[in-house]
Amino acid sequence: MHTLTLNNGCTIPAIGFGTYKAGLDSIMNALSEGYRYFDTASYYGNERDISIAFERTGIKRGEVFISAKIWCSDMGYESTLRAFSESLEKLRTDYADVLMIHWPRPNLELKEWKELDIETWRAMEKLYTEGKVHALGLSNFLPYHAENILSRCEVMPSVAQFEFHVGHMQFPALEYYRRKGILVQAWSPIGRGRVLNDELVVELAEKYRVTPAQICLRFCVQEGVMPLPKASSRERMRENLGCFEFAIDEEDMMRLENVPPLGWGGLHPDRAGS
Ligand SMILES: NC(=O)c1ccc[n+]([C@@H]2O[C@H](COP(=O)([O-])OP(=O)(O)OC[C@H]3O[C@@H](n4cnc5c(N)ncnc54)[C@H](OP(=O)(O)O)[C@@H]3O)[C@@H](O)[C@H]2O)c1
Repeated sequence: MHTLTLNNGCTIPAIGFGTYKAGLDSIMNALSEGYRYFDTASYYGNERDISIAFERTGIKRGEVFISAKIWCSDMGYESTLRAFSESLEKLRTDYADVLMIHWPRPNLELKEWKELDIETWRAMEKLYTEGKVHALGLSNFLPYHAENILSRCEVMPSVAQFEFHVGHMQFPALEYYRRKGILVQAWSPIGRGRVLNDELVVELAEKYRVTPAQICLRFCVQEGVMPLPKASSRERMRENLGCFEFAIDEEDMMRLENVPPLGWGGLHPDRAGS
């Protein structure tokens, strides 16, 4: 299994399975295909399915990695502790490998979001110190959101998750987290499919005799970013793991980095609609 080492010394798989809209069968299939890291969130409503999948496939807890997220309505010190405890209960486990704040601002009207983020982070630091979480993370935090945490935290974030794919790399955030030694995880690493028809992606898929999805995922891997693809069929799950079986040369990486904007998921922490 390909792995990555976080800034606190924890080792995690180098690819994760995205579980948004993934049901029990998908999660069981992903386990069978070899995925060992599952990106979950209370918001996805499938934490119970994930624990059932682990039970049915007989996989031991120590062999899999789970990231959990604190949803907007659960932010704050006490409510974070309560929400996390509920997530653990649904996941039928006594720890999470990674715990993240899902969004930096629960809504655009809240002016005191910085204080709310810090209160939430303090609760996560307590969980970390107690060993109930092995690493902490930020999801959808732009650098200025993250700076609020980094300038006041006792436990550094180890992971930052945001939308990242060919044609939408969010360079300022990527560079910021790289400088800070924080692992970037890509949500929508194949842009929910929208990137697969890009002419350069298609050209390189032919050149390297792989699929467009594999080009997108390999691009993440070579950028030092951990992709979190979601797929419904076992064939696609297997295909996506194939991103570790070839390499894109430097010139083609530079070309991929400069693909013109291909759009984004429509979710942004500072814009209405997220
Ligand atoms: N932190 C956040 O706020 C946030 C936000 C969004 C997502 N996420 C995480 O990121 C994960 C992935 O993001 P995502 O689901 O938005 O986007 P994605 O993984 O980029 O795209 C998933 C879509 O691509 C298709 N697909 C997968 N593999 C394929 C292949 N080999 N060939 C062709 N099509 C393929 C899937 O179709 P089928 O399902 O039909 O196979 C699905 O429609 C989520 O599940 C979630 O865990 C986090």
